[in-house]
Amino acid sequence: MASLWSGRFEKDMDETVKLFNASISFDQRLYNEDIDGSIAHVKMLAEQNIMSNDESKEIIEGLEIIRKGISSGDIAFNVDDEDIHMAIESRLIEEIGDVGKKLHTARSRNDQCQVDLRMYLKKEIVEIKEALYYLESVILEKAQKYNSSITIGFTHMQHAQPITLGFMFMAYFQMFKRDIERLTDTYERMDMCPLGACALAGTTLPIDRHKTAELLGFSAPTENAMDSVSDRDYSLEFLSNASISMMHLSRWAEEFVWWNSSEFSYIAIDDSYCTGSSIMPQKKNPDMAELLRGKVGRVYGDMMQLFTVMKGTPLAYNKDFQEDKESLFDAIDTWKSSILIFANMLEKTEFRMDQIEKQLKKGFLNATDIAEHFAKQGIPFREAHSIVGQMVKTCENKNCDFEELTDEELKKIDVRISKELLGDISIKACVNARVSFGGTAPKEVKRQIMVANAWLNEI
Ligand code: ARG
Repeated sequence: MASLWSGRFEKDMDETVKLFNASISFDQRLYNEDIDGSIAHVKMLAEQNIMSNDESKEIIEGLEIIRKGISSGDIAFNVDDEDIHMAIESRLIEEIGDVGKKLHTARSRNDQCQVDLRMYLKKEIVEIKEALYYLESVILEKAQKYNSSITIGFTHMQHAQPITLGFMFMAYFQMFKRDIERLTDTYERMDMCPLGACALAGTTLPIDRHKTAELLGFSAPTENAMDSVSDRDYSLEFLSNASISMMHLSRWAEEFVWWNSSEFSYIAIDDSYCTGSSIMPQKKNPDMAELLRGKVGRVYGDMMQLFTVMKGTPLAYNKDFQEDKESLFDAIDTWKSSILIFANMLEKTEFRMDQIEKQLKKGFLNATDIAEHFAKQGIPFREAHSIVGQMVKTCENKNCDFEELTDEELKKIDVRISKELLGDISIKACVNARVSFGGTAPKEVKRQIMVANAWLNEI
């Protein structure tokens, strides 16, 4: 089959070239956007008297028939279609005859593929933001439920300070909030319509790019035609956002894996989010958490692929740019499903406070609190730090807790301290006292939850 662009050719494309050149196998995902773009384009062409109203109407009707054919599966694509733009245009000409040949007036596939991709990505950004909002609502629910539940805060994977689970949940809430905000920024920046940029330099025909931008729901047309067909930085921005957010998910997924191990047993992941072993009958493995941890690698790969494609490419369009789609689609699919899987797994996960409580006794979690307590009594913090360090050493030698140190032992370390001076050093009292802005005290976390709730309800 001769291609719509074959006028100056004497030979058909080699079969292997056809396969290598075609993007139809993956860009058919853009068929709805391609048809919407074409409809807006011919409406504008009619308004500008570049085609008649009747011609525009006929083309729009033809395009709607093709849309139905594609969505019902009656229209199937093959390698001769080359890409979704050619596929739809050639079907249109088959469907309505010569008038269909007017569709491609004042337009090129270079701007067409970009208007399609921007519309598609805008729609997907809305969906991914929805998924992230859902995850945030699950996190908030858990934060409320576990607002006063005390757990271990780690640094270097060593017991560090006591915190509440609610506080830890709110830490993740902030990360995903920034992921959402980054998506909003990207959306705003990419919300400009490249249609009418044509091949690279605009057109001599009296088109109205503001009209097509408005019809397609963009905030404005892109400023410069050459930039419009050469730019892929909006996709790179999206892929960077996806990579950051997947990194957040993979970090929490890693925590799920070790919290779920028999050594920790901090959580019980619901059966419906685990798998068994084909040989070991007793196994219940946290596969979803591990997959989430692994899938970030794919998305980093997707981002690096497009950065590498774009590097060093000259202005304006180059066929290299056709390679901008598969990795983007993969990142969209992977990110969206990862968020939903994680949110549902989190919702169903039970925190085993009895197990966590057993561990609270280890690692002198209240050491910093005692040092701060001494500082409040007028002992310079650096000295208080050293005193508590010596208390730890004495406890380790005696195999006991701070509470079990005698007045004698305390005085031996430093004459300024005593059991009375220590006061209430229970883990609970320590957590309750961490009321500094952003701290872990349940009272302060309540405030964080309130602010978060207000932000979520604003949407
Ligand atoms: N399938 C192509 C792409 O996605 C469309 C643009 C082709 N333009 C061209 N001049 N060959 O990049």
